[in-house]
Amino acid sequence: MSKISMGELLRDASRRGYAVPCFNAINLDMVRGIIQAAEEENSPVILCHAEIHFKYTSMEQIAPIMIDAMNRAKVPVSILLDHGKSFSAVMKAMHLGFNAIMFDGSEYAYEENVQKTSEVVKIARTLGVSVEGELGYVTRPRSGGAEGEDDDSIIDDTSLYTDPEQAREFVERTGIDALAAAFGTVHGVYLKKPKLDFTRLNQISRTAGAPVVMHGGSGLSDEDFNAAIDNGVAKINYYTGMALKVVEKAKQRMLDTQEHGFYHEFMMNVIDDFREDAGQIMRTFRSSGKA
Ligand code: 13P
Repeated sequence: MSKISMGELLRDASRRGYAVPCFNAINLDMVRGIIQAAEEENSPVILCHAEIHFKYTSMEQIAPIMIDAMNRAKVPVSILLDHGKSFSAVMKAMHLGFNAIMFDGSEYAYEENVQKTSEVVKIARTLGVSVEGELGYVTRPRSGGAEGEDDDSIIDDTSLYTDPEQAREFVERTGIDALAAAFGTVHGVYLKKPKLDFTRLNQISRTAGAPVVMHGGSGLSDEDFNAAIDNGVAKINYYTGMALKVVEKAKQRMLDTQEHGFYHEFMMNVIDDFREDAGQIMRTFRSSGKA
């Protein structure tokens, strides 16, 4: 099956009541573990790379790895530039072969977000690349470990949430294939118990006219994930939880290592940990068996 357009993938998820897991995969080991999980679970999957992670791995380094994984996979896969903020990153991602782009114009005023997102969509259309936009703002608090600059107090600011009526207009005017919506989720570690506004999410999903995306998937309960999917979320972005869990397991394994600890053994165990966590997420997001 392999390469598939993200737009098509998300429309299927909306129709069949599941969410496509979208994992930030910043190196080969993550890509291998996630693809193994997707094949085992028979789940579609999105591999993404975020602009804030370029300092660890450049797009030039990860693109060929992701493209190869996408082309060889036995399940549908899309590869996405996550939170592309600069025009140059968006253009470079398309040039390198990403078949989906998130243009994150959420920090701009509404009209400017519409205008910049529309420009990206116009170019992406000609190349058959899907586009995700963001309206409202999913916060990235400084203490949450997601490399954000937001003040921690911002997580309670409901004025940053997506307005359902504006969401309809935004999708119509920009022509995006997917809409990242703000309704209480947060990037990184939750500093307070998450309180998600599912009524708002439901209204957004019914009015937007494009599949809705939930960012900040780590740290939510299974009940939250189920409610999010039942209220129309078709793609969930997930990173922090996996990044923390895999290191915890590796720490324990190192303590248990009696003699020589070889890097290749460490690496294979880490790939297996990524596979395990990704598989669990696919079952939770109900994408298992949907490939
Ligand atoms: P978490 O790291 O909080 O899971 O969020 C990931 C995300 O939304 C990437 O865009």
